[in-house]
Amino acid sequence: MSSLLYRHQFRQLTQILTQFQWLWRPIPMEHTQLPWQNAEPLCQWLATLENTQMAALKAHPDAVIETLATWWPALAQLTDLTTVPIANHVTVNINARLGVGVPGRKWAQIQAYLSAMPKRDSTVRYLEWCAGKGYLGRGITAATGKPVESLEWQAALCEQGQLFAEQKALPMQFHPLDAMSEEAAAVIAGCDHGLALHACGDLHVQLLKKAIATDMQAITVSPCCYQLISGERYQPLSSEAQHASLVLSKADLKLAVQEAVTGGRRVCRQREQEVTYRLGFDEWQRDWQGSDQYLPLPALKKSQLTHGFGEFCRWGAEQKGLILPADFDEAEYHTRGQARFVILEQMNVVKSAFRRAMEYWLVLDRVLFLQQHGYRVTLTQFCDRQLTPRNLLIHAEK
Ligand SMILES: C[S@@+](CC[C@H](N)C(=O)[O-])C[C@H]1O[C@@H](n2cnc3c(N)ncnc32)[C@H](O)[C@@H]1O
Repeated sequence: MSSLLYRHQFRQLTQILTQFQWLWRPIPMEHTQLPWQNAEPLCQWLATLENTQMAALKAHPDAVIETLATWWPALAQLTDLTTVPIANHVTVNINARLGVGVPGRKWAQIQAYLSAMPKRDSTVRYLEWCAGKGYLGRGITAATGKPVESLEWQAALCEQGQLFAEQKALPMQFHPLDAMSEEAAAVIAGCDHGLALHACGDLHVQLLKKAIATDMQAITVSPCCYQLISGERYQPLSSEAQHASLVLSKADLKLAVQEAVTGGRRVCRQREQEVTYRLGFDEWQRDWQGSDQYLPLPALKKSQLTHGFGEFCRWGAEQKGLILPADFDEAEYHTRGQARFVILEQMNVVKSAFRRAMEYWLVLDRVLFLQQHGYRVTLTQFCDRQLTPRNLLIHAEK
């Protein structure tokens, strides 16, 4: 796709995300009623949906987009604007024995990533960024015979990766370093093609910045966890995004990775129970403290939920230095938690329509940033979303 098209798409998405932020920005846990009372047809439609229908819609955001577009026609463009071409896969042959011990899905992702990556014979030395045990590095060196420098800050993972590479006589060198450190910059400078599979937030951004600074010839990155950033607000990379008036908090960034829960009925039931308990507790603390602010509780072991709502609230109160009264009306607050859960799901249905737009906007920011620094960039889907929902691949060459 030409750079003009990426820029055009980016502008369109900026326009839609800005204009409709009142629909996607509200945080469902914080609301005791739908924040769109002035949008009556939307609220009426949401009220007709059963929990199972809402779960199905969240998994099929195109259907939500279609419905929303009946009231706001501009939203109809969202599906086309976020359609990313599937990569032209050229199968790479990697000795199956190198995949032994690698979790099945991870190995399949690596094969898809390497098959989707445009071939580049001129690469001399690869950099594997935030390598873990170096599974991707194994794949690329087996496929090309070229050396790989694998950078990972957990020394134990580096040791395991190095041992495996030595046993299999693979030309891999592990570096137990912090990706954000100056020492890491020296490793980057010695490589001409940087690879990153699922390096979170700031980490893959750091690779892009350092690659640009060292004039790296090629970069192939599949970004993930956009919300894992050190600052409170997203720092746009491209000048296009810097001039867009879209300011994103960490909570906003989370929208890009909020997939529908697809773990089967048991996982869905467990999530519903936990969220209902949290919201029921919130209803009580608002009454008790005379507050209209959501009070989040820390994470807990799923097994704690089996002791029931009353016990959950006792635990929650303890966490927050509150005392649950002897006459605490468990049934009342549990029912109120259930009602809040319905509102939360209604809001999640609406937000799901903007999930891909948010992810694509962030990815396009990276694409435009690379283009701005003289790279030719392609953006593709390297695998099916079932294999990993973070399936976008940015490939850039000087
Ligand atoms: C999601 S894993 C991905 C690992 C590997 N690329 C893969 O796909 O299997 C992210 C990796 O980044 C490493 N990591 C996190 N922060 C880091 C940092 N500041 N410097 C270097 N590595 C880091 C983690 O230890 C972890 O192994």
